[in-house]
Amino acid sequence: MLNQVAAYDDFAWFYNRYWNEEFHSLAFPILERIWLHRLPADARILDVCCGTGYLAGLLTHRGYRVFGFDTSPEMIRYACENVPTAEFSVSPVSSFRDSRRFDAAVSTFDSLNHILDEAELENSFRSVAAVLKRGAPFAFDMLLEAAYQTHWGEDFALVKDDHVLTITGSGYDFRTRIAACKITMFRLKQGQWCRSDTVVRERCYSAQEVAAAAQKAGFTELECYDARDLGMAGQLGEGRTFFILRAP
Ligand SMILES: C[S@@+](CC[C@H](N)C(=O)[O-])C[C@H]1O[C@@H](n2cnc3c(N)ncnc32)[C@H](O)[C@@H]1O
Repeated sequence: MLNQVAAYDDFAWFYNRYWNEEFHSLAFPILERIWLHRLPADARILDVCCGTGYLAGLLTHRGYRVFGFDTSPEMIRYACENVPTAEFSVSPVSSFRDSRRFDAAVSTFDSLNHILDEAELENSFRSVAAVLKRGAPFAFDMLLEAAYQTHWGEDFALVKDDHVLTITGSGYDFRTRIAACKITMFRLKQGQWCRSDTVVRERCYSAQEVAAAAQKAGFTELECYDARDLGMAGQLGEGRTFFILRAP
């Protein structure tokens, strides 16, 4: 398995500053509509691949008890700082274990596309299923092929006085179904420009492959919603599907 830990460790400072608000301002109303209303007021929620904790913050503000985990220690360091009222730990999804049983789980911003092979995706679903109460809903969004065929290869740059970031989409490989983007970052620290480079990779799955992996892991009752039908306009909604599964 390619190492996705270092990818987000290096990117965490920029992600924490720039990558949360726009996505979650569109995704949270969708989650409220298709998932959150099914939960008891004080539900205990598992945030899978929680990143820097932005969603965990929105959920704790509404009174839910949130436990988040992510494979990147640096993303989790920000999450702990951002949301001291939630609990966090470092773990890849496929080996996540916990003695508690959660009322619901969630995983946002195409996090599960970061799992690069089908066996690993199935094991990840199995790990989540094992810590959910019977019938608990697991909501997540994933990108389907339309997203990788369109905007993935586009370049992006951010230039500020003391930090600079460029993203070069190196495109989508139709054979391996892996998309990669190269991120180059500079930060001015104590008068010195420091450079770091990282590559984020995602794997494209079809909705049928997601359903098959989830079913093999024991989940039932798959629901799928096209993000654009739920009001997620523009590039973020393109090729994005929200799924809801029921725990065995
Ligand atoms: C695009 S970010 C989304 C973060 C967060 N869910 C959000 O909505 O802002 C993807 C996250 O998935 C994490 N990740 C990637 N592969 C993972 C794995 N196998 N297990 C756990 N976390 C993983 C990354 O470290 C990163 O924080």
